[in-house]
Amino acid sequence: MGRARGTQEHDGLRSERLRLRPWTVADAAFRRRLWAERDPRVPAGRRLTADGSPSLADMEAWILGYEPEPTPGLLVVELVEDEAPIGYCGLVRDSVARSGDPELAFEFLRTSWGHGYATEAARAVVARAAEVGHEHLVATVREWNTASLTVLGKLGFVDTGEREHDPVHGDSLLLRARLR
Ligand SMILES: CC(C)(COP(=O)(O)OP(=O)(O)OC[C@H]1O[C@@H](n2cnc3c(N)ncnc32)[C@H](O)[C@@H]1OP(=O)(O)O)[C@@H](O)C(=O)NCCC(=O)NCCS
Repeated sequence: MGRARGTQEHDGLRSERLRLRPWTVADAAFRRRLWAERDPRVPAGRRLTADGSPSLADMEAWILGYEPEPTPGLLVVELVEDEAPIGYCGLVRDSVARSGDPELAFEFLRTSWGHGYATEAARAVVARAAEVGHEHLVATVREWNTASLTVLGKLGFVDTGEREHDPVHGDSLLLRARLR
């Protein structure tokens, strides 16, 4: 693993260029835009429908009910010199592999791709995960998602060889990183 470069800030994290902070209701439109931008290979239930579902109110309800578990949960990412969200990054419960290890997740607006932001944000989250005592993290990623696989590789995630076959949306690979 690379050296930890994130620092803790209130309920969030800081890195050289980024601030990672908890969600507020005002982030509903941002979260809906992420859904609207999702790749057509993402399963339909996780993309915005033609008639605009989930709605802004649905997104607000999700934010109001969101519990940041496991620590530090999912955090909204902003540039330090700006207050507009560009993505999110953090930990979710490992639902697919059921290993019990937290799962790393990240997603950024297309306008911010290609600047190393996902790698930088994820490094801060991985450092925090190690500080709070998580021993391993997992990640699930579709085999066609080269950008995500590149980010995960830089963070020390390795392919476990486990995969969920999906001829429609692409196989999901299970990756794992040891933190200590
Ligand atoms: C995956 C994602 C978060 C990456 O965000 P990002 O800020 O652009 O990532 P970074 O800039 O830190 O790193 C991306 C790396 O992938 C590389 N990359 C991107 N697209 C690529 C492609 N099609 N082929 C090969 N490499 C590619 C970039 O060159 C970069 O590597 P480098 O730094 O060595 O040049 C972003 O593409 C995204 O939000 N995708 C949709 C959501 C998603 O897939 N989330 C992950 C689910 S597992």
